Amino acid sequence: VRLPLAVAALLVAGAPIAALAGEPASAPPPPAVDRRAAAEAGTASFRELLFFAEGRGLHAGPSLGGGPDADGPLSKLALAFAKRTGFVVEDGRVLGLHEVETSGHRVSAVGCVACHGGRAAGKTIVGLGNKTIDVFEVGRLGRKSLWLAKVAGAAKDEAGKELLDSAGRLADLLTDPRFANATAGLVPTSMVFQWFYAQASEPIPPGIARGAVKVPALWGYARKREVGQFCDGFGDGHAAGWTVGVELAGGQIPETVRTYRAKLDEVERQFATFLPPPYPFPVDAAKAARGKTVFESTCSACHGTYSRAPDGLPAFEPPQHVAWETVGTDRERLDAVGGPLRKLVARSPLADLIRTTDLPPGYFAPRLEGVWSRFPFLHNASVPTLRALLTDPAKRPTEWSLEDAGEADRFDPVAVGLTLPAPGSPEASALARRAADGDRLVSSTSRLGQSSAGHSFGTDLSPSAKADLLEYLKSL
Ligand code: HEC
Ligand code: HEC
Repeated sequence: VRLPLAVAALLVAGAPIAALAGEPASAPPPPAVDRRAAAEAGTASFRELLFFAEGRGLHAGPSLGGGPDADGPLSKLALAFAKRTGFVVEDGRVLGLHEVETSGHRVSAVGCVACHGGRAAGKTIVGLGNKTIDVFEVGRLGRKSLWLAKVAGAAKDEAGKELLDSAGRLADLLTDPRFANATAGLVPTSMVFQWFYAQASEPIPPGIARGAVKVPALWGYARKREVGQFCDGFGDGHAAGWTVGVELAGGQIPETVRTYRAKLDEVERQFATFLPPPYPFPVDAAKAARGKTVFESTCSACHGTYSRAPDGLPAFEPPQHVAWETVGTDRERLDAVGGPLRKLVARSPLADLIRTTDLPPGYFAPRLEGVWSRFPFLHNASVPTLRALLTDPAKRPTEWSLEDAGEADRFDPVAVGLTLPAPGSPEASALARRAADGDRLVSSTSRLGQSSAGHSFGTDLSPSAKADLLEYLKSL
């Protein structure tokens, strides 16, 4: 028997259980907030969070029966779908895939955690970006399953037809060559931005930039949204609407989004509980202490300093915004938010909920809590390890595999990030060939928007200073 979620969350959070049991008001006051327990409850609720409503929003088409049911066994079909599209599969469940009943039909709805839950070094971490989610594949396979669903009679009534149509429109969007991501783990944000063009009945500009980015980690986001949302601060975090941008791209309508207000505030409270995953292996304290000195003289000017609250947990702070001219990383994403987009956002039917900032073109220097788990690095996932980030941009790795990117045997604890083949080895040439053939599970810095240029800070440190610095970064 599963506890209703709200009750489970209360129990985990150590809320005054006496109140539930109806004991007199003289019971002792509740204990000070236990952030670990709150994080457990917050991430547990986030695993179930779903905005699919009234038959609209993010969904992977009609369920083919025996599908990814939270309480039932996972069908072979759902498992194959999840593997192909890079969803996290854990304990026989697909993270973020839910069977939902809507007007007599069963649909595979997609929850936020499908993208905002990921794996690193063999552990599932809610709040970490999914390193392998491939929305193009979701669209490609989704279209195939639509055909199967039609054959199976899913279009037997109006509601069924409408579901098939909306899933078809989403599949078209996800596979549209103007937007489609070339590599797993990168989500084209222009898929969300196109919604604003559609609302204004403006044509999509020819050659619109895809702006494909990795899914960011969400711990510390409660402070981040004070200064801006996303990798570049394009979104204004004071308005509550961008969070459901993917739902609009998925076919949700503004009127329904308005009814989400309370739920959005609840989600923001969940995010505020999230904690970074501690480094799963031993950290050499003496080395890390030396690394802290290196960090403070080389990196702190942009990435800030790091302190811990009395409970040993991080005290989050907002990140600093850095002009593009200073950091010099790939700018395709910045091109995606240029042009008339800001004006269209200001004119949209949700202009009160979805707003932009007027920060100049640039990227946030992200806060680095839990950074060990966030590989590949930079907003466009273009650098596979921290050691590679501390290497001259011209000498950084150019191809690497994303297969099983979050599994234990793909984690390199020395370079901190993905394992890589030795340069010049037969494995390295095989990867280069696969990349040239367009293999979506091989990342290549020569693909548009995926260059690993820029951020050359710390690249001229001595080898021992770099090793100390890496050890310190593990401790954040
Ligand atoms: C298809 C994958 C995907 C899904 C599903 C998804 N997101 Fe995101 N989310 C992203 C990506 C990618 C970004 C970064 C966008 C950017 O930088 O422009 C992001 C950014 C965010 C941010 C801003 C984080 C920051 O650092 O500024 C929040 C908050 C967020 N998402 C919440 C949600 C919620 C709530 C849901 C469920 C309704 C959701 N997301 C569903 C991919 C996804
Ligand atoms: C002048 C400002 C500046 C300095 C100095 C700087 N950084 Fe950065 N850093 C940035 C910016 C801006 C980004 C985001 C760039 C992007 O995503 O394209 C970034 C991104 C990163 C990331 C990627 C995080 C992620 O989640 O992918 C890491 C790791 C990082 N920096 C580490 C360092 C270290 C270590 C140093 C010191 C050797 C350093 N940085 C010095 C501005 C700076």
